[in-house]
Amino acid sequence: LPLNGKKVLITAGPTHEAIDPVRFLGNRSSGTMGFELAKKAADLGANVILVSGPTSLDISHGSVQLVRITSAQEMYDVCQEHYPDTDVAILAAAVADYRPKHVAKEKIKKKEGDLQIELERNPDILYSLGKEKKNQFLVGFALETENELENAKGKLQRKNLDAIVLNSLKDEGAGFGGNTNKITFIDKNSGIKTFALKTKAEVASDIWEEITSRIHA
Ligand code: C5P
Repeated sequence: LPLNGKKVLITAGPTHEAIDPVRFLGNRSSGTMGFELAKKAADLGANVILVSGPTSLDISHGSVQLVRITSAQEMYDVCQEHYPDTDVAILAAAVADYRPKHVAKEKIKKKEGDLQIELERNPDILYSLGKEKKNQFLVGFALETENELENAKGKLQRKNLDAIVLNSLKDEGAGFGGNTNKITFIDKNSGIKTFALKTKAEVASDIWEEITSRIHA
């Protein structure tokens, strides 16, 4: 099998950033794309670490170790732990860019007037892994609404990636929620391949075909 003996690291799902003990900032990522990528990698022979934010999904595959986390900082810590001996990393999680600067110890009480919550930047996990990259094949995702190709290529360079998977919100059925996706795979030599609208399981197969043909080349 093409991924026999390889260690694969995948991030999936949203992150939740605590505001107080009962509230958080989050997003609508389902985690489906990352879970399908993990399943496929295991089928191809890899040992998989799947780091996932809060999701209703589960996975039962002897070769997949699911690590559930809540916040971007926790996802960052788990990725840091596993990255050094990782062969292929795919970061498919919808990580919150910002988190509340102060997490209230008690539930915030409603008062008259408006409430302001100060936000600070979360670590960019993908950017860090790009900086620390040795022999890993590193893949990111990009969800763009304008100048898609240019923005995705810029991200690929800035984050020192080997490839980036672009999904366009302009494409009906692509991206967040739902079980289908339409992607463009771009590698660091500007090799570009656009795929048809497919189920996320099929998209995962396409992505792994692109990756395995490049790591064995
Ligand atoms: O820069 P942007 O957030 O659009 O990049 C998207 C890519 O970066 C995705 O692969 C996502 O998983 C990753 N990312 C990350 N940590 C962040 C933000 C994004 O790993 N804090």
